[in-house]
Amino acid sequence: MTIAAPPTLDFWSTEQLVLCSDDRYGLHAVIAVDNTALGKGLGGVRFKEYANPEAGVTEARRLARAMSFKNAAADLSYGGAKSVIFADGAVEDRAGLMRRFGEFVARTGMYLPGVDMGTSTDDLKWMAEGGASVPSIDDNPSASTATGVYYAIKAAVDACSDLASLSSSHLLIQGVGNVGEVLARRLAAEGARLTLTDVDSIRAQALAHELGAQTIDVRDIPTAECDVFVPCAVAKVIDSAVAQKLRCVIVAGAANDTLSDDSVADILLQRKITYVPDFLANAGGVIDIDVRYRNLGANELESSLEAIGTRVSSVLAQAESERVSPLVVAHKYAQQRITDASQR
Ligand code: NAI
Repeated sequence: MTIAAPPTLDFWSTEQLVLCSDDRYGLHAVIAVDNTALGKGLGGVRFKEYANPEAGVTEARRLARAMSFKNAAADLSYGGAKSVIFADGAVEDRAGLMRRFGEFVARTGMYLPGVDMGTSTDDLKWMAEGGASVPSIDDNPSASTATGVYYAIKAAVDACSDLASLSSSHLLIQGVGNVGEVLARRLAAEGARLTLTDVDSIRAQALAHELGAQTIDVRDIPTAECDVFVPCAVAKVIDSAVAQKLRCVIVAGAANDTLSDDSVADILLQRKITYVPDFLANAGGVIDIDVRYRNLGANELESSLEAIGTRVSSVLAQAESERVSPLVVAHKYAQQRITDASQR
């Protein structure tokens, strides 16, 4: 079966690609606005070292495309964008660099930046001083991401005939950082049995002790027995070899790019392991930003996060009836929203 993957990144597939350079601040950056059919492009600013400029540009374009799909699948009125600031030298004036970058962001007029790897809310404040339109400056959306993942897991468990309830299920959480810890606490409060694992084993053990959970070594993940595997650490934790070994019935977590590539979704399908697409489950962060940007309240936030569960239920039901991976259904849905909006 062919996966209905998002269109590949051919040379012209990014709507707007801007290189930003100012030697006074050591600023080298790229802004990739993938698509604005649904609205301005929302996506984080990554501050990272790359082997060469092309690698950074490719990553910005790839991540911008992923944001188009995440925002569309979450029923948000944003397109997708991402930017990369190249950490290729010592920065003497970080505030100045970020303000200058904010001027470039303002010039595009179509990019709404957020925090990503290597950037913080301080950086966003400086970008805003430079003129960038920053949707949510003070907030760390991790708790909302965790809440959204919780609803996604709950929906997947409810749809799974092998599992009676969330509270009687055994979940293995990889990564107990900002998202994983909040999620673990919520699941423990629900009475679920938890196993935690983190490269920071002291952190995992401390939380496990507090919550009455077990811990395992990260190397034991592929063969660990559990009902739900919850990746909340790093990208690409499930490749075809791991997918063949997993002993769970559901995979649902916060980590972006959970699968090494889309074909792994087919292996999971064949093995009757329900895969909740990462961009559906982890949309709580962008939903949080949207709710704050529109000055809505806590009730609106909670109901928007709960809607992640409703969306997951409907994607899983459609995947079941069409006998395809939930990834195919989620991609199709997001692509259809983008196509419909671009034709209006
Ligand atoms: P974090 O950096 O706070 O926590 C990650 C945790 O994973 C750390 O405790 C780290 O020690 C651990 N870790 C790193 N490599 C590991 C490995 N190979 N095996 C086991 N543990 C490992 O990150 P955060 O914010 O909790 O995000 C977790 C994941 O969710 C990331 O992939 C992130 O891209 C994704 N995500 C986060 C969002 C947010 O709102 N924070 C929004 C959407 C996605």
